[in-house]
Amino acid sequence: MTTQTPMPAGDVVRAGRVDAYLKVLGAPLYAADRSGPDLLYAMLAVATVGKGRLSRIDAAAAAAVAGVRLVMTSQDATGLQAAGYSFADGYGYQSLQVMVDDHIAYRGQPIALVVADTLEIAVEATRLIETDYEPEPFFVTLDDANAAPIPVSEAVPIPHYADKVLGDADRAFADSEIQVDQRYETSPQHHNPMELIATVVEWRGDTLVVHEGTQNAGGVQNGLATVLGLDPAQVEVHSPYIGGSFGQKFALGHHTPLIALASRSLGRPIKLVRPRAQIFQDASFRPASQHRIRIGGDRSGRMVAGIHETVHQTSRHDMFPSSYTEYSATMYGWEHYRGHEDLLQLDTPTPGYMRCPYDHIAAFSLESAVDEFAALVGMDPVDLRLANDTGADAVTSLPFSSRYVAECLRRGSERFGWSSRPLQPGTIVADDGSLVGWGVALGSYPAQLSPSMVRLRLEASGQATVSMTGHEMGQGIRSVVTQQVAEALGLPLDRVEVLLGDTRAAPQHLTAGGWGSASSVAPLRRALDDILAQVRSLNGGRDVRQSPHEVLAAVGRDAIEAEARYHGPGQEDEEAYAALDSGAILPDGPVYPEFTSFSYVAQFVEVRIDPTTRRVRVPRVVSVVDCGRILNPVTATSQIWGGVTWGIGAALREQSEVDPRFGGVLNADIAEYVIPVNADIAEIDVEFINEPDQAFNTDGVKSLGNVVMSGVAAAIGNAIFHATGRRQRRLPIRLEDLL
Ligand code: MOS
Repeated sequence: MTTQTPMPAGDVVRAGRVDAYLKVLGAPLYAADRSGPDLLYAMLAVATVGKGRLSRIDAAAAAAVAGVRLVMTSQDATGLQAAGYSFADGYGYQSLQVMVDDHIAYRGQPIALVVADTLEIAVEATRLIETDYEPEPFFVTLDDANAAPIPVSEAVPIPHYADKVLGDADRAFADSEIQVDQRYETSPQHHNPMELIATVVEWRGDTLVVHEGTQNAGGVQNGLATVLGLDPAQVEVHSPYIGGSFGQKFALGHHTPLIALASRSLGRPIKLVRPRAQIFQDASFRPASQHRIRIGGDRSGRMVAGIHETVHQTSRHDMFPSSYTEYSATMYGWEHYRGHEDLLQLDTPTPGYMRCPYDHIAAFSLESAVDEFAALVGMDPVDLRLANDTGADAVTSLPFSSRYVAECLRRGSERFGWSSRPLQPGTIVADDGSLVGWGVALGSYPAQLSPSMVRLRLEASGQATVSMTGHEMGQGIRSVVTQQVAEALGLPLDRVEVLLGDTRAAPQHLTAGGWGSASSVAPLRRALDDILAQVRSLNGGRDVRQSPHEVLAAVGRDAIEAEARYHGPGQEDEEAYAALDSGAILPDGPVYPEFTSFSYVAQFVEVRIDPTTRRVRVPRVVSVVDCGRILNPVTATSQIWGGVTWGIGAALREQSEVDPRFGGVLNADIAEYVIPVNADIAEIDVEFINEPDQAFNTDGVKSLGNVVMSGVAAAIGNAIFHATGRRQRRLPIRLEDLL
C-alpha cells in the first residue's frame, strides 16, 4: 500500500501534527492530484430550469468537438441501479438518480457527462449540448413552499426522532410570570472547502479504483458496488487526505458512478473536479430553518418551561431529518419541555450535514432566547445560565456521562473579564466611536460513537503499522493515532505508519459528527493492549523492560498482529459490525443505556460596531470547551480556531442566495458567497476543561469537531444586542439589520 507518503525522520514531526511538514511541502496526494499520461477529463452539464422535464437533449455538436471521447446522457447511462439515500439504508447523498430519465428535480441537476482529452475540451463540449425543457412550477424557499409540514417523528419513525415531552410545557408557559416567545430564522449555507469535490477513477482489471476526497470511503465503495452491480470487494476507495470536509463529502455523489461507467467503456482513467458553482447546485448543504422558542419562568431567573418548534428544509425526494430539539431539551434543567420538529419539502437537492449541524442553529435560537429572558429578568446572562444548570438529561432522566458547563462559564468569565460588563446595553463606546458589546452563549454537541476497527502490526525492526477505520480531514486523527501508538510501543513517531480512509486498510465508516477520534481510540487501545500482552507472553510472562519490538527480535519473531473492533454501549455486536462492513451510517448516542453524553462549550464574544457603516467586527472570542480528555492540544486548539471562525462566518457572512424566480443559488462562487478571511478573525482564546469522561469512553474522549462552533452565532447576536439594544433573530446578521 503506497497511499501514505512516508514521514520524514527527526524532530520536524515532533510538533502536534505528524503530517504538517509534508503538507507544507505539498507532498500528500489529494484525489485531483492524481495524474498520468492516460488520464481523461470529465465535466458534467447541468439542468438550467428550476424543475420540469428535459424534453430534448442533443449532444451531436458536443460529440463532434475534436478531442471529445464520450458524451453520456440519459440515453446512454443505462443499467445503473439506484444508490438509495444514505439516511435511509442507501449510499447516495440523496436518493435522486440522475440521467436515468427526463425528470429534472432542481436547477443544476446533472444531465450529461462529457469525457475529453483535456479539461478545456470537456468544458467547451458541455456548452454545446442543446436542450429543451418543459418547465414546471417549483418552490425553493420555506416561505413560498406550498407544502404541508411533515413531522420528523413521522418521516423517520424511530425513537431518536420522536417529539420530546416532559411535563406540560404549554400550561407551565402560560402560567409563567416571565415569558419569551420569539421566532428565529436561518439561511441555507454551502460548504466551500479548498478541495473541491474531485474524483479520479481507474479500472485495474475487474477492480474499480477510486481516488476521492471523501469522509465515507465505505459508503462510496458499497454505493458504487450497488449502482454498478459489482461485488464491494471489486471496489477500492482511497481517501488518505481530504482538503476539507465537514459533511459535504459524506456520501456517494452523482458523478462518481458516471465516470466509473465511462472509464470502463473507454478503458482509460478519468478525472472529474466539480467546479465551485456546481457544489452550490448539486451537493450537500445546510438547510434553511425556522424556530419558535418559548421560555417561561419567574423573576428569580428560574426557567421552568421550554418549548421549541422547528421547520427545516428537505427535498421532494428525501427526508433529511432534523435534531434541533436535542440541544434545547438537554441544555437546561427544565421542569416542563416540549420539542417538535417539522420538515418542509422543497425543489432543491437534499440538504445534509454542515459543521455543527443542528446544534449551531439550535444554539443560536435557544441561546438568543435565553439572553432575552435574562434581559427581561434583569439578570446577568452568565449568572442566569449558572442558575439553570442541570446534572441530568431531563427528558430521559439519564445522568450526563460528564458535564462541566458551569466550569466552562466560570473559567470563560474570568478569562474574558466578564465581571466588568455593564448590564445595560448600549453603554460602552470605544475611543473611535464604535459601539462595543459583550455576549455569551453556551453550545453543545452530542458525543457519539461509530462502530470501527483497528489492525495493528508490530515488526521486530521497530516498525508499526496501523490499518484503521477513520478519515483524515485535517482534524488530526492521523496525528493522534500515531502519537498513541508511538507512546505505547516505545517507538519514534516516524516508525509508525497509519493507513486510514482506505477500504483496503479496514472497513470505513462515515467519519463525521465529531465521533472520529472517540470511535478510534477505543479499538486502538484494545489492539495496543493485545500487542503488549502478546509481547509479555513472548517474554515468558515477565514484565517487558526493553521496547516491545526488541522482545520480538530477541525471541526471533518477525512480527505480531492484533485486531480489535468497537462500538457504542447502546448497540449489539452483530448489527454494529454489519453496518461497519456494509458502509451504513450507524452512530450510537448521544442517549446510551445508562447515560446521555454531550460535549459543551461556553463562548464569550466582543463585538465592535462601526457607528456609521454598522460594520460588525469580532476582535476577541474566549472559548472554554468540555470535550473530555484532550488527546493532542495542537490539533484540538486548531479545531477550535476553525470552529469559531466558521461560527463568525455563519453569523455575519455566509448566506446562499436562493433564487425563487429561476431556482438555484445566485451567489455560487466565493467572490459573492462571503466567507471570513484573515482580516475578519482576531483573537480566539481557547481553554480546555480536559477532564476525562470515563463513563463515555475508555480514553475519556468526547467529541470536539462540531461543538466548537456551537454557540458562536448566538454569542455574537447577544453581543450585538449588548452593543446596540437591538435583537438579532435571523442568520446571517447583515449590515442592513443594524442600520
Ligand atoms: Mo460533520 S458536520 O462531517 O462532523
